[in-house]
Amino acid sequence: MLAAQTANRVDALKREAAAAALEFVRPGMRLGLGTGSTAAHFVELLAERVRDGLNVIGVPTSEATKSQAARLGVPLATLDEQPELDLTVDGADELDRDLNLIKGGGGALLREKIVANASREMIVIADESKLVDRLGRYPLPIEVVDFGLAATERAVAAALKSAGYSADLKLRRKPDGHVFVTDQGHHILDAGLGAIPDAPSLARRLAELPGVVEHGLFIGLARRAILAGQNGVRVIDRS
Ligand code: A5P
Repeated sequence: MLAAQTANRVDALKREAAAAALEFVRPGMRLGLGTGSTAAHFVELLAERVRDGLNVIGVPTSEATKSQAARLGVPLATLDEQPELDLTVDGADELDRDLNLIKGGGGALLREKIVANASREMIVIADESKLVDRLGRYPLPIEVVDFGLAATERAVAAALKSAGYSADLKLRRKPDGHVFVTDQGHHILDAGLGAIPDAPSLARRLAELPGVVEHGLFIGLARRAILAGQNGVRVIDRS
């Protein structure tokens, strides 16, 4: 009962953050549409505006967001059709005060990062519990190709060890036990690191590894975060 109440409260905060992000949407914008429960609120609220006549075009970051946005009547394009976006609005699993993020809890990190990188601006929306002093409490998703999975897993483990982490690496599985497959047909290793003292350096290290397609550290991509908490909504801008 208490858990359900807490979940409802957190969900209401996610919606408040999503609603506040709508303030930054202008007519004619090409929008990257994020993935996850917070981004889903944004898509829902955006669709209401579209029904009221707002003219925007959305580029979804996942098949799930694509279906949701299409069902709600948000006009969509692919990133190939609209390779330059004005604004991406997306959630995060964790963010620090420099607006470095951990993303990929929902498995969409690769498309999310490509879309964010193609956008002039990225706004992160979240409930305030996602803000941390230091990233790493949330396991870091690392997207890997299926070819040579065991070898890549060993290489990732070795790289983490040489960077000073004693990582707990887990191949992500669905609740039914099957291995999780991303929209791009890859797998995800979740690295329980505890704390990431130097996220930019770890991001560079992971990006060097063959077999690693992308990782969930978003460094320098978000310019603004909208956080909803018990005392209202606050905006943090990256300096
Ligand atoms: C999806 O792959 C993720 O990057 C999500 O943006 C992130 O997990 C946040 O999800 P929630 O909004 O559901 O917490």
